[in-house]
Order: sequence, then structure tokens, then C-alpha cells
Amino acid sequence: MNTMVIQNMPFKVGQTMAIAGNNTPNAANFSVNIGHDGENYAFHLNPRFDAYGMSNTVVCNSLEKGCWQEEVFPGGFGFFKGENFKLIIKLTSEGFLITLPDGFQFTFPNRLHADEYSHFSFVGDVSIRSIQIY
Ligand code: GAL
Repeated sequence: MNTMVIQNMPFKVGQTMAIAGNNTPNAANFSVNIGHDGENYAFHLNPRFDAYGMSNTVVCNSLEKGCWQEEVFPGGFGFFKGENFKLIIKLTSEGFLITLPDGFQFTFPNRLHADEYSHFSFVGDVSIRSIQIY
């Protein structure tokens, strides 16, 4: 399993993160995780091309003390195997405002209630090309 971890990179309420990546040609799924450490994610975004019995479906969740919480299926997708994508994540006082590559937008609540997260991981069938915070 391909995993990239970034630590000590502050991402605060009011800021936006733009992630550019590429999905491998035979991608099954990948995730973007934003939180405090490997056991506490405020936001897990898991696009599933073909995984866990789902196809072209985005699953979101939080991980609290190593336990997955209630899953959310927001809709939207816009990822393609073998292609580049851009994902926009804004941390607002309401939560994580996501813009998927197909333009679909949704908010996922900030279940850990912190106003800053500094641990990121990218797991699975993805290579990250750039990350910008502004
Ligand atoms: C699980 C999966 C995890 C995570 C979680 C989200 O089934 O193994 O990687 O995606 O769902 O709820």
C-alpha cells in the first residue's frame, strides 16, 4: 500500500488546501486524511473506483482514537483512473468544505472541533503532484 505522510504542516480554519494528484491506471481506491496523527483524523476522504463493493463512490468519515465513526456518502466523484485531478479543501468554522474534481461541493462537519490540523496522509492508488495551502 502506497502511503505518504506529511507532519507538522499547519492547516487552520480560514485556509484552503489545493491538492493535485494522479490516479494510477488500475486504481481501486485512495484516501486523503487530515488530522492530528495516524489514529485521529478529522477528515477521511476515500474515493472508491472499485473497492469495498462500491464503484465510483466517495466515502467520508472521521477516525477517533483508531475507531471509524459514521460514514457519509456525499455524492459527486470526478476522478478517473490514470488521470490527474485537483481537489480543494477549505477548513471553515462549519467544517471541511470540499470541492471534488467534478465541481460537486459539500461540507463535512469538523467532528474533532480543532481549529488547526497538522498531520496529513495520502494512502492507496494515488501519487500527489502538489499541495498548496493559502
Ligand atoms: C473502512 C475502510 C477504511 C475507511 C473506512 C471509512 O471500510 O477499511 O479504509 O475507508 O471504511 O469508513
